[in-house]
Amino acid sequence: MEKTQFALVKESVEYVKNRIELEPKIGIVGGSGLDISSLVNNPTKIAYKDIPNFPLSTAPGHKGELIVGSVSGKTVMVMNGRVHYYEGYSMKTVTFPIRVMKELGVDILILTNAAGGLNPNYERGRLMLISDHINFMGTNPLIGENFEEWGPRFPDMSNAYDKELRRKVKDVARRLDIPLYEGVYIAFTGPSFETAAELKMSQTMKADAVGMSTVPEVIVANHMGMKVIGLSCITDRAVPEDLKPLTAEEVLKVASSCEEYLMKLFPEIIKELPI
Ligand code: HPA
Repeated sequence: MEKTQFALVKESVEYVKNRIELEPKIGIVGGSGLDISSLVNNPTKIAYKDIPNFPLSTAPGHKGELIVGSVSGKTVMVMNGRVHYYEGYSMKTVTFPIRVMKELGVDILILTNAAGGLNPNYERGRLMLISDHINFMGTNPLIGENFEEWGPRFPDMSNAYDKELRRKVKDVARRLDIPLYEGVYIAFTGPSFETAAELKMSQTMKADAVGMSTVPEVIVANHMGMKVIGLSCITDRAVPEDLKPLTAEEVLKVASSCEEYLMKLFPEIIKELPI
C-alpha cells in the first residue's frame, strides 16, 4: 500500500531528530537569494537529499540544506532553499517540509520571499511585512484527506500572519531604523512573471506585492496551529503602467541587498519572540 503523507512526514522527522540535539521552536524559510544561514551559531547542516522523502529545490538562488543551531540564544531550524509549485511538485510536496518542522517542535514560522511591488509607493530593495495574503494559485495544499492529528478540516485563517508577532517585528524595525512596509501578498503559480493586465487585476484586489511562493506554506502552518511571520523583499516594481522586462537574475541581485536588512532584523526579532 502507498504510504500516507502522515507516514512519510514521520520518517523524515525520525531521521532529522537523530541528527540534532536541541529541539527547534522557531523555523525560518529562506526565499530566493535570501540566505541568512550565516547568522546561525553552532550549526548542524543536513542536506535535503539525505532526508528521506524530502523534496529537492531546483530553483535558482535556493540551496538545499536544513540548518539547526542558535540565534540570539534560541534554537532555530533554517530551511535554506524552498521548493515551489512551479517546479512541478504537488502542493502536498511543496508544504511537506513545513509539516516536518512542526513535528520537530517548531511553533513559530518565519518565511521570506522575493516579490514584485504592486504598490506604486514601494521602492526596490526594501522589505514588506506580510499582513495577509490572497491565494491566487487556483489550488490549496489541504485538498484531499485531512489528518485530524495535524489540524481541522476547515482551518481558520483570520490571523494567518499573527497580529501580535507583526507588532513585534514593526517595533524591532523601527528601533533599528530599517524601512518596513506592511501589505497584502498575492501568489500566482508562475513560473511566467505576470502580465500587465494580471498585475492591474492584483492591484484592483488590493494586493501590495506579488510572488510565486509562501501562500501554500502559510496555509499548512495555520492548519497545524503555528504562528507565522512573512517578510517579502521587494525586488522589482510590478506596476503595470511602467512595467519593464524582468529576469530572475535581476530578482536575485536585488534580493541580496534585502539580505542585509534581514541579517540585522532576524537576531532582534528572534530575541523578542515569546519562546
Ligand atoms: N512577480 C512574481 N514573482 C516575483 C516577482 C514578480 O514581479 N518578483 C519576484 N518574484
